[in-house]
Parts: sequence; structure tokens; C-alpha cells
Amino acid sequence: MENLDEIQNRISTAIEQAIDLGALEALRVVALGKKGEVSLVLRTLGAMSPEQRQEFGPKLNALKTELNAAIVRRRGTLEAEALEQRLAEEKIDVSLPTQPIAMGSIHPVSQVFAEAEAIFADMGFAVATGPDIETDFYNFTALNFPPKHPARQMHDTFFFAPDANGERKVLRTHTSPVQIRTLQAVVEQAKRDGKELEPVRIIAPGRTYRCDSDQTHTPMFHQIEGLVIDQTTHMGHLKGCLQDFISAFFETQVKARFRPHHFPFTEPSAEMDIGYERVGNEIRVGQGDSWMEILGCGMVHPNVLRSVGIDPDVYQGFAFGVGVDRLAMLKYGIPDLREFFAADQRWVQHYGFSPISQPNLATGLSS
Ligand code: PHE
Repeated sequence: MENLDEIQNRISTAIEQAIDLGALEALRVVALGKKGEVSLVLRTLGAMSPEQRQEFGPKLNALKTELNAAIVRRRGTLEAEALEQRLAEEKIDVSLPTQPIAMGSIHPVSQVFAEAEAIFADMGFAVATGPDIETDFYNFTALNFPPKHPARQMHDTFFFAPDANGERKVLRTHTSPVQIRTLQAVVEQAKRDGKELEPVRIIAPGRTYRCDSDQTHTPMFHQIEGLVIDQTTHMGHLKGCLQDFISAFFETQVKARFRPHHFPFTEPSAEMDIGYERVGNEIRVGQGDSWMEILGCGMVHPNVLRSVGIDPDVYQGFAFGVGVDRLAMLKYGIPDLREFFAADQRWVQHYGFSPISQPNLATGLSS
């Protein structure tokens, strides 16, 4: 019969000396695996006399249990050591300076959209949108443009080739078609609910297109449309709203005047000018004796309301359309409009804004 004590001492020592988990596992297979040393000895039990079996059986089982327990203990120790080692090796030094991360910039036009949206949201306006490609109906007819109005002609408007019905779509020349789409939706909603019209208070930021190009005009540019319709809104609200917007936007009290003008879709119509002065190359908005036009506005024309089935004897309100690119140039001192669309990375880095400090109602405009 094997010397069980000898086996136990030898294997226990080897277990204690196993240097890592791999070595320990190899040892377990050699000692206790199916064809391992202890299993082989166990197998000899079958050939023993019952007396021998009674003597060796329990001893062998005790040996097996003891060796298994030793392996589990050693495994625990090795695992703890391995973890300690990993923790030491993978320790992060939080005091090291960070690697610089290349960060993009927000385009000034996007920045101004975000600022204007924050201001108008504060005044209770929601954001509405419409398509860049419009029908003649939404861009002109529903807005009370007479059939022969010059803005419909080729020199101002980008027309698409006629479709199968002979209809020529246009790239919208202003954001005003969103007025019509918004009013139609509100009228539909009121019909569905069998209720009165909900008051309308929206802005519509977006791209607009005219066949024009010089230092202050590009074929694509940006506007924010505004529309308020209810039963009581009057011209005084229009002036107050725009005066408040412009002062909030330029973050200073801005001198403004409303000059009579003409738009087919408003009556009366006005353009809003803001005061500025030129100091060297710089334009200072708010003070000074020079006037600069920045937006068109007016009381929504009764024919516009009629075109969507709203009774102009009950409902009224105002609309405005402001040029976003012009606002950006003025507020951030950008001299050439064409650079806005040149896709020059250095220009965007220089004039752009941090993407992690965008304007919102909680933090205000500037950061
Ligand atoms: N749509 C006009 C333009 O593009 C601006 C405007 C909008 C004027 C709303 C009055 C009311 O010039």
C-alpha cells in the first residue's frame, strides 16, 4: 500500500508552493483529477480485502478532502495576490494633467439660433418648422402676394423645373410659409376638438434662399419667423416683444425705431431699425445716431387669415421675420457674410462657440 502520509506531505507542500493559478490548476489535475495520483490509489481499493478497505477507505477519503481544501485555500491566496498586483499596476494617477482633446466649435449661426430660441422660449414662444422646398401656394399665394409680384420672378426666387402637373416648386424665399402651415394645423386641431382656436405663439427658425450674392447677401441665409395670433394682440405687443428681444439678444438696452414699410402679408407693416455707431472698424449696437434695418414685421393681413379659414374680425396678431446672419455679424463682429458658408475650419474655430456652454434659460446667453 502507498504511504498516504508521504503523498499528503508531498502534495500539500507542492500546493503551498504553487506560484500562480495556472500552476495550481495543473497540480490539481495531476493529484486529484480523474487519472490523478489519488484517484489511482482509490482505484486499488477494489482489489483489497474488506478489512483493508475498511482501514484505507476512510483514510483515502480524508486525504482527498484535505488536499481539496488546501487547493481552495491556496487559490484564495493567489487570487487575492493577483488582485493586489492588478490594483497596483492599474492605479490611475488623477493628479496627472489631461491630454488635450480636440473639440469642435458651434457655428455662429447655430449659436444665434440657440440664443434667440432661449429668449423667445422665455416669452412663451414654441418652435415650429417647415420644409425648405415649398409650393407657390405656401411661399406666395397664401401670404397675399399678388399674382404678378416681382418676388415671384426668376431674379429673386430659385424655381424648380415644373413637375408633371406643371407646378413649379420653389426654395422658400423667407420663413413666412411656416406661418401658413402653423395656422392650418391650429385650424385643423380646433375642428377636430370642436373648440375655439388655440392662441398661436411660435417662432420658426430656418434656412431661406434668394438668388443674390455679395458681402452682405448669400444665396442661402437664415431667418427666424415669429407669429402671434389670438383675439387681443395688437401693435403695441409687437413693438414691446421685438424691443425686448433685441435688447435681450444684444445684452444691452438697444435704441430701436419702427419705420413704415410694405409686405403683402402684413398691414400695417414696418421695418425695425436699431441704433448703432461705428468706432474705427467696429460697429457698436445700441447707441449712436446711425440706423440699421434688422427685421420686417407687421400685423397679420386679414387675407392671410382668410386663406387658412380664420375669421379676421375675431382673430388678429403680429408676425415678424428677422435675418439671423445679420444678427450674428453684428453681435459677434463678423465682417463678411460669405465666410459663414465657406466651410473654413480655422474660421469656425475663431468665430465659433464652445459646444459645452450653449445658451439656455438657466444659464443665460453668455458664458
Ligand atoms: N418675410 C419677410 C422677409 O423675408 C419678413 C417679414 C416676416 C415681414 C413677417 C413681416 C412679417 O423680408
